[in-house]
Amino acid sequence: MFDVYPLHDIEIVRAEGSRVWDSDGTEYLDMYGGHAVISIGHTHPHYVEMVTSQIKNIGFYSNSVIIGQQRELARKIGALSGKEDYQLFLCNSGAEANENALKLASFHNGKKKVIAFKGAFHGRTSLAVAATDNPNIVAPVNRTDNVIFLPLNDPETLEKAFAENEISSVIIEGIQGVGGIRLAEPEFLRQIRSLCDRYDAVYIADSVQCGCGRSGKYYSHDWAGVNADIYTMAKGIGNGFPIGAISIAPHIAPKYGMLGTTFGGNHLACAAAIAVADVIAQDRLIENAARMGEYLMDELRKIPVHIRDVRGRGLMIGVELDGDSAPVRKKLLFDEKIFVGSSSNKNVLRLLPALNITKAHADLFLNALNRILTAN
Ligand SMILES: Cc1ncc(COP(=O)(O)O)c(C=O)c1O
Repeated sequence: MFDVYPLHDIEIVRAEGSRVWDSDGTEYLDMYGGHAVISIGHTHPHYVEMVTSQIKNIGFYSNSVIIGQQRELARKIGALSGKEDYQLFLCNSGAEANENALKLASFHNGKKKVIAFKGAFHGRTSLAVAATDNPNIVAPVNRTDNVIFLPLNDPETLEKAFAENEISSVIIEGIQGVGGIRLAEPEFLRQIRSLCDRYDAVYIADSVQCGCGRSGKYYSHDWAGVNADIYTMAKGIGNGFPIGAISIAPHIAPKYGMLGTTFGGNHLACAAAIAVADVIAQDRLIENAARMGEYLMDELRKIPVHIRDVRGRGLMIGVELDGDSAPVRKKLLFDEKIFVGSSSNKNVLRLLPALNITKAHADLFLNALNRILTAN
């Protein structure tokens, strides 16, 4: 293997709900969902049934024929998000979703400059990585002066950047994930909306990590009460099946050939994403994410030592410790058998459990973290 990932010496071979098992049969609690991917729980019966029965019929045909599942998925994402009039384009990953969104914005208004924010992560492909605030993953060939980085939640620099440049689009995570669970303030998102309207720019809501109901709304940006022009999605919408999507406001017109993909929107990927949408609606998982998120954050704030800040929305939670979180993560994983995540802020633990996590599982995690922090 091309050695780009620092690996835990654990091989996961089986999973169910919020639990996974390694090759020795050891059980772990999954409070991370493999970077926010597991939304309805591992191996959910409806998901397994939908994917299995789809592959028996047809797994793939190209985007040169009608694929009815795409239309069904568009209807279901429209209903869950309350944006029935938005148009759906399907692709394969979060980076590809953002790439397409940035391209579409530029096709739409003919402009070039993109505003992105300090701490942002938008993916590893050409323009998505150029809009990502991490020089270590931007290759010389990706560098471009078309991306302007601004501080998050700073209204003055945003206003000035619009006044001084021909802005095509603004791309922003509703809650920065990799950046350490930093919330875009609702007032700031409303300002982005109004500046995009004033200057004919496109507001792109990167919902790859914070979307799919995780925040207690289908799109976390919608806590601000204004619509984005394009929402980008991946991770949770496929519950592990690779699928990306962009949801596009009705005023942005399509043209043949403007976007495209071989694999995007294939029968099997759509079946997986439809199963996810079904379970989210039937089991009211957006409400559960809000409720369980509140419970977790309230209880985390009661832990008396070593926690400097608890922040987030729904089941996208950052726990900022008063020092490096790596030893705590290690104890959680190897002593307590619990997966949690890290972030670019080394003090922050990232929690991204499945949206149907139970109180019993939340308590298991809370007790373990309490034990580790109070023993230190
Ligand atoms: C906010 C955000 N955007 C985009 C991406 C890229 O998604 P993918 O890894 O599917 O390309 C990620 C991945 O972590 C992400 O967190």
